[in-house]
Amino acid sequence: MFKVSEVFFSPGSTTKKVVKEISSKFDGEKDCYDLLKEHNKIILQEFQEDELLIIGLPVFSGRIPQIVKVDLENLKGNNTLAIPVVVYGNRDYDDALLELKEILDKNGFKTITAGAFVAQHSIFPETAKNRPDSKDLEKINEFTTKTIEKIEDYTNNKENFKEITVPGNKPYREIQGVPLKPTSNKNCTECGTCATLCPTKAIDIENPKSTDGSKCITCTACIYACPEDAREFNKLMFVPASKLFAKKCSERKEPEFFY
Ligand SMILES: Cc1cc2nc3c(=O)[nH]c(=O)nc-3n(C[C@H](O)[C@H](O)[C@H](O)COP(=O)(O)O)c2cc1C
Repeated sequence: MFKVSEVFFSPGSTTKKVVKEISSKFDGEKDCYDLLKEHNKIILQEFQEDELLIIGLPVFSGRIPQIVKVDLENLKGNNTLAIPVVVYGNRDYDDALLELKEILDKNGFKTITAGAFVAQHSIFPETAKNRPDSKDLEKINEFTTKTIEKIEDYTNNKENFKEITVPGNKPYREIQGVPLKPTSNKNCTECGTCATLCPTKAIDIENPKSTDGSKCITCTACIYACPEDAREFNKLMFVPASKLFAKKCSERKEPEFFY
């Protein structure tokens, strides 16, 4: 039996949901690395051959969120099996899965299967609203079943391991920052929840109503964590952008697996 480690960066919680759903089909002891809370805090972790890494990242601008690269550098495998998954908001995942797989390969992991799943868009929640839905969960479970079968095959015959390929291009897509930056509205009680969670320290803990737009990566953690619903985008910019985006990305995309 493999010892499972769940790793995710999930400001809007959908990536965490996908990782937890996959992980729930594995028995035994589990570790969990929440890269939003543990960003810049992870010290070198070595994983062995009898361990399994389930790692999920959201897609930001067709790439993995660049801030977690420093954390991923501290996860080292020794021929450790890994299941990389990316979660995206129904536009596209472009080069994100390839980027994640290549980091894992370089760090001593073996990608056994990989997946790209769709979830409600964290900036534009009218797009892919309420996903992952029951149809997505079925697909996630199908993916996990196939992964478990493949792990069993691998365990019985390690020499037969074949490298999988995932979609993506090199050089990776150029990252375009999101000009929308959330700020506090009148509901803000200055409780500091957002400032504590913000992975780039863009919110001043002494004055949480102030956001440093140059540090903010629009990850949306503050919006989803705020107990008062006090973090939002400027409506004048947000409303038309949201409508345009929903129209452009209205066609339902389905999960994809690679094994
Ligand atoms: C800064 C940023 C950039 C994003 N870029 C993309 C993208 O390129 N393609 C896409 O389909 N979704 C994109 N999304 C949507 C997220 O990938 C999607 O909502 C994901 O489910 C968020 O995961 P989380 O809920 O774990 O934070 C982006 C979201 C953010 C915050």
